[in-house]
Amino acid sequence: MVRATLEDEGQVLRLRQGSGEMRFHAIWLRDNAQDAQTRDPGNGQRLVTVADLPEDCRIAGVETGDDGIEVTFASDGKRVRFDSDWLCRHAYDHPQQAVPGDLPEGTEAWDSRFSGNVPLADLSALQSDREALKDWLAALRRFGFAKVTQLRVEEGGLFDVVDLFGYVRETNYGRLFEVRTEVNPVNLAYTGLGLQAHTDNPYRDPQPTVQVLACLENSADGGESMVVDGFAAAQRLRDEDPEGFALLANHCARFSYRGSAGVALESRRPMIELAPDGRLQAIRFNSRSIAPLVDVPFEKMPAYYAAYRRLSAIIDDPAMEVQFKLSPGEAFVVDNTRVLHARKGYSGSGTRWLQGCYADRDGILSTLAALEAQG
Ligand code: FE2
Repeated sequence: MVRATLEDEGQVLRLRQGSGEMRFHAIWLRDNAQDAQTRDPGNGQRLVTVADLPEDCRIAGVETGDDGIEVTFASDGKRVRFDSDWLCRHAYDHPQQAVPGDLPEGTEAWDSRFSGNVPLADLSALQSDREALKDWLAALRRFGFAKVTQLRVEEGGLFDVVDLFGYVRETNYGRLFEVRTEVNPVNLAYTGLGLQAHTDNPYRDPQPTVQVLACLENSADGGESMVVDGFAAAQRLRDEDPEGFALLANHCARFSYRGSAGVALESRRPMIELAPDGRLQAIRFNSRSIAPLVDVPFEKMPAYYAAYRRLSAIIDDPAMEVQFKLSPGEAFVVDNTRVLHARKGYSGSGTRWLQGCYADRDGILSTLAALEAQG
């Protein structure tokens, strides 16, 4: 049984249940009324604007029941019922401020020790088994990285992965892009260049939030893929050098791409992006597309570069990376707002052929939330 009391002349409702208690403001409750005049019963969309709420919103009376409360508003006598469970799930009367660099809720940082635990599933299982898809998407939400096996080894086979949760995001590189290199078999000294771990396309606004990379051939020596948790790297920088972390978080970097005719992509965003409460929101790191930095105050530029160099060294530290070699029919999915990816150098004879595409992270979260709501 809930006990309810009114405070501040009806502007605040205090609820007590057992040893717990929580407060709600009258204006908040009025805005979140679930009745048919406030929300469309069909699609749940709100039918009123903030301007429709009483400016001096107060509660005149409250009645409690076994599983909820009924509130009467003072201005117009409107009565609205609230379910106890719904109120508990939406409580906001608790400390909300995070330490800058804290992880978003429901995520977990990782380093090289994550190697043996990378989320992995067969495509056919994800297509046919709701529980398997739910687990795989939940792992993707938690770690920002997962693998899929048993894809069609053919052009566009990677689209089957995107179909699990959303839609391909087409760019000027097309619906998909080729990552194909023929290694010269008569020149064994040839070494394919490795690439530093990076997030893709930070010069787009918004950046692509998901990348899928699928392997069609990989017979070259080397050519391993690797991924680094950008959130873990940012947290390590914060712990080692809080001022450097703050510089990268509080000043915008610039990224650009002008590699083909008719394309001049530019963005102005920080390398470490924090939400207003301080939690990590996104990492942008790409040495090939960083543009002249012009948003850092003159006197802070040397320290900014020192922090940038330190973050780069952390990202390059083998203790941070998970390394693997994709075989034909295998793909990986990364949250491109968080997890950096790279290719190791390769040599010898053989071919390495991957195809990549972009998609949107909200599709992953939406599909997962819908599956979770189904139970
Ligand atoms: Fe890339």
